Amino acid sequence: MKIYKVASYEQMSQEAAKHILKVMTEKPNALLGLATGSTPVGMYQALIRETRATGFSWQHIVTYNLDEYVGLDALDEQSYAHFMNVNLFDHVSIDQAHVHIPNGKAEDLEAECRAYEASLKTAGGVDIQVLGIGRNGHIGFNEPNDAFEPYTHVVHLDEKTIEDNARFFESKEKVPKTAISMGVESILSAKKIILLACGKEKAQALYDMLYGPITPQLPASILQKHGDVEVICDEAAASLLKGPFDV
Ligand code: GLP
Repeated sequence: MKIYKVASYEQMSQEAAKHILKVMTEKPNALLGLATGSTPVGMYQALIRETRATGFSWQHIVTYNLDEYVGLDALDEQSYAHFMNVNLFDHVSIDQAHVHIPNGKAEDLEAECRAYEASLKTAGGVDIQVLGIGRNGHIGFNEPNDAFEPYTHVVHLDEKTIEDNARFFESKEKVPKTAISMGVESILSAKKIILLACGKEKAQALYDMLYGPITPQLPASILQKHGDVEVICDEAAASLLKGPFDV
């Protein structure tokens, strides 16, 4: 894995956007794997700015999001579908038919997971996958567990994740207890992966991901198996890492 340490959140966001813009410019119908959370917000802002400035058309770009809460529909302000609209899709010329986010309100959740995974495969696979990381080392909503979940699945959220994400809800009790998430094989099948991390709360997870054993107890550690991962992190998140850095 390559590690790129930057001085600020803004720099992390710019650098991440640069990677995505490169893929989009080389392939105007690229398939982007997208993430939610507070970390990638600045990256989406940079993407909006840059594509507006250059007049880049999002018309043929296709997106697949990592995850969605069970029980929330796209109109719910806490849903990831709503997050993506507010932070990216409402501001660019993307065709809504090219946007894919698991349906957290599906009647048959298992069937929804299978359909999502099949659709991702048929679409040809992700050209560049954006990831954040949870304090507990989760990616998407792949939570610490006894075994890796390979494909899109329903997941019971970890107590730590519920606590962390409570800041977006009225109270901790309002955080959904389950979600749909792409699995680790779905994520690893991306051609290129960029993982963004900022803040000292992510330092231990980042350290374990890079130097610890590959274990389902620290789901992000599976990224050690991928040949093209770039970690873009600020100094606080990188504070436990050993230099010299690769990039
Ligand atoms: C959420 C998302 C993840 C995200 C993580 C970190 O639970 N499911 O995809 O990477 O938490 O979020 P943040 O960037 O807000 O720290």
